[in-house]
Amino acid sequence: MTDLLQKNSIFLNNSPLEKLSKFVRDNNFSSVFVMVDENTKEFCLDYFSKEVSFDFKVIKIQAGETYKNIHTCLRAWEELSSKGADRKSLLINLGGGVVTDTGGFIASCFRRGIAFVHVPTTLLAMVDAALGGKNGVDLNHLKNQVGVIKLPAMVIVDENFLKTLPENEIRSGFAEMIKHGLIDTEKSSYFEECISLENFEISKISKLIEGSIHIKMRTVNEDIDESGLRKILNYGHTLGHAIESYRMGMDTDCHLLHGEAIAIGLVLETYNSHIMYGFPLEDLNTLKTFISYKYSPERFSREEQKKIIELMKFDKKNEKNNVNFVLLEGLGSPRLNCQVEEQLIYEAFDFYQS
Ligand SMILES: NC(=O)c1ccc[n+]([C@@H]2O[C@H](COP(=O)([O-])OP(=O)(O)OC[C@H]3O[C@@H](n4cnc5c(N)ncnc54)[C@H](O)[C@@H]3O)[C@@H](O)[C@H]2O)c1
Ligand SMILES: [Zn+2]
Repeated sequence: MTDLLQKNSIFLNNSPLEKLSKFVRDNNFSSVFVMVDENTKEFCLDYFSKEVSFDFKVIKIQAGETYKNIHTCLRAWEELSSKGADRKSLLINLGGGVVTDTGGFIASCFRRGIAFVHVPTTLLAMVDAALGGKNGVDLNHLKNQVGVIKLPAMVIVDENFLKTLPENEIRSGFAEMIKHGLIDTEKSSYFEECISLENFEISKISKLIEGSIHIKMRTVNEDIDESGLRKILNYGHTLGHAIESYRMGMDTDCHLLHGEAIAIGLVLETYNSHIMYGFPLEDLNTLKTFISYKYSPERFSREEQKKIIELMKFDKKNEKNNVNFVLLEGLGSPRLNCQVEEQLIYEAFDFYQS
């Protein structure tokens, strides 16, 4: 397991930020910049500063998905330039997926590409967003429309950052870990381990982080350009994204965090997997029970389900106007490019809400 992480320059456990200090010492960067958002400036920067042994300048962006856009990049490029960054500078992205996605893109374009390192501070970024080299920003309301695939020089996963993360953010990140359990082609017991979690205590979650990173990196390494296998990382996301977008478009305070929507998407798509390809009922029920008890149950009327299906048809993964699903024949046995009848999606909603 550790070999895979080392090969990908991902460091966790045993004061991983020391590895970053060594990397900075060894590489003779002309200057070092740390990008934060409002919250990671408040909650993560002090700890970071104490753990590392090099000087740096701070670039702050606004927190939240709304600011994952080209305007934020423009401001950061101007700030990098005015603060004297050059081709030999290093950008360290200290934050959740918004900071790592945006920062990776900023670094990849500045002076045609400077070195960057991700230091994820949310669970979701530790197990997913900071891994695999996808960087980019949203275009108006369409997610991740502009970006590049470029791997960071290092990823530093220090679980101490999770201490200040609100529980709903922990729950959101955990949905991606369950997804990794479902798609684990090595068929380890990772899904069972995730699903036996009693509560979202950091000490319990921490033990499962490495397993998740391992599953994601194994998948990414086999298919860095997403021509095939990497698509399984989108499991639960075809409907999950549509649910997230649907709720985002509503005025009321019923917005869902990314992972909260994905949790529902996982139940729906696993139901489809069961009906279409015989995914075992027992595992489906275990998943549904876990999601029902640990995540707040959401309800969607038929009218809303219809709107969600319409939104799904706009999903960026669509090729030639078909909605392509990744489904599972069983734990760790994916089937790519599956077409699902609309009627079955309504049935899946009924199952989730039953
Ligand atoms: N590149 C990829 O492969 C990939 C994969 C999955 C998700 N993503 C992207 O990741 C983004 C979501 O990431 P996220 O869930 O980390 O969201 P986020 O970056 O918005 O972080 C969530 C909130 O937590 C705050 N925060 C971060 N660390 C904190 C800490 N330690 N203590 C207290 N507050 C803290 C942030 O300021 C923010 O308000 C989305 O834009 C999504 O598209 C990318
Ligand atoms: Zn996701």
